[in-house]
Amino acid sequence: MSVGKIEINGKVHEAPIIIGSEGEVALDISKLRAATGMITLDGGFKNTGSCTSSITYIDGANGVLRYRGYAIEELCEKSSFLEVSKLLVDGNLPNSSALSSFQDQIKKASSLPEGVKSIIKSFPKSAHPMGVLSSALAALSGHFEAKDYGNLSKADFDELIPTMMGAVKMIAAYNYRHNKGENFLDSKSDLDYCSDFINLMFGEVDKDIAEALDVLFILHADHEQNCSATAARVAGSAHANIFASMASGVNALWGPRHGGANQKVIEMLEMIEADGGDYQKYIEKAKDKSDPFRLMGFGHRVYKNFDPRAKIIKKYCETVLNKLGVKDPTLDIAKGLEEVALKDPYFVERKLYPNVDFYSGIIYRALGIPTNMFTVMFAIGRMPGWIAQWKELLGQGMAISRPRQVYTGETLRTYKDVESR
Ligand code: SDX
Repeated sequence: MSVGKIEINGKVHEAPIIIGSEGEVALDISKLRAATGMITLDGGFKNTGSCTSSITYIDGANGVLRYRGYAIEELCEKSSFLEVSKLLVDGNLPNSSALSSFQDQIKKASSLPEGVKSIIKSFPKSAHPMGVLSSALAALSGHFEAKDYGNLSKADFDELIPTMMGAVKMIAAYNYRHNKGENFLDSKSDLDYCSDFINLMFGEVDKDIAEALDVLFILHADHEQNCSATAARVAGSAHANIFASMASGVNALWGPRHGGANQKVIEMLEMIEADGGDYQKYIEKAKDKSDPFRLMGFGHRVYKNFDPRAKIIKKYCETVLNKLGVKDPTLDIAKGLEEVALKDPYFVERKLYPNVDFYSGIIYRALGIPTNMFTVMFAIGRMPGWIAQWKELLGQGMAISRPRQVYTGETLRTYKDVESR
């Protein structure tokens, strides 16, 4: 085992160096405070690893994304969302019997208790669907007996995982129907996952739309220690139940810096279109530090090259829009924006490229998904990834996540009566 040396106040301390299967290196500082009284500080965890993981590998410099060693490009071409979900959660591609029993378990779990349906119906139609999803997921915990989440059995995982995959699809579709003032539909066990979701939403199946969704869900399925996976892991580290842990993921994903960006991208493109399509003006606004405007769908904490998912989705945009006979002016604006930005020194120097959210909303819109539901679509795709990360954390016997801090507030002072303040 090689070690790193840190000299503090003239004393040299050693810390183990961890090397991953793809050659990534880390300094294990878990014993640093005991040895030196010091902690490390790294706002936003930009340079801090929270765990070792064998689920997803990202090479940000070269735009590489692999789930359990399989390249995202190959999985999009040859696999299916449910097969990829099983791969992420179990670690290997399932054989046909394991895949069909996973599909059957999800089909059996594709219904919601009346109480959860009433919660969905209790929301105003203007409520953001991510708030409904998070509430309904947490509410589901009331319909399952409590378990010791520090000691789940295989049977527990086999029950809970399909439940989450079924629930997220049902809640999303029911919320859509509630907002349209339409009655809820029942899941059809003869349909595959995406076709069933389309049917639950629109009351009819469109094969092209189902196929497009299957690829989009694969592309969103996991992304290692992103903000929402970290939220799900942190909740899981307290041995909170799976419903609460997944709802934590939903709540973090909702943020416009994260999954909420796909909705903001379309709103941005529509704003530029309404403003005469002058995307150069918005490039300048994005560069202006005094202007809060950011180019939504651009930039990434890890990718300092093209987000491979954005490349696939951009190509897919054309295919899906042509297949559906949809003409969308925002696609041309997006392409123009991308072309100008990628030549602009501000974006080039900061290695800001389109990310997964830049083009996805254009496809969702073509599929008839309402804009405020785009992040829910992201959550449906990401559910297996959150589950896989949460399951891995429980399997690692990880300590509860509880970071330290450097206190910079008032030092000791004595209480003064209100008259003397
Ligand atoms: C997702 O982590 C994941 O893996 C997430 C995700 C997943 O699959 O789970 O990939 C999904 O969340 C994709 C990202 C979606 N968000 C957006 O598209 C929102 C717009 N992008 C940014 O807000 C930003 O790029 C982040 C949040 C994505 C990343 O922020 P970082 O890593 O903290 O980078 P930063 O804010 O420190 O930016 C570095 C520089 C800054 O300029 P300087 O201070 O160096 O002068 O780049 C600038 C930033 O101002 N910058 C941008 C910008 N993004 C970064 N400037 C204009 N427009 C932008 N979009």
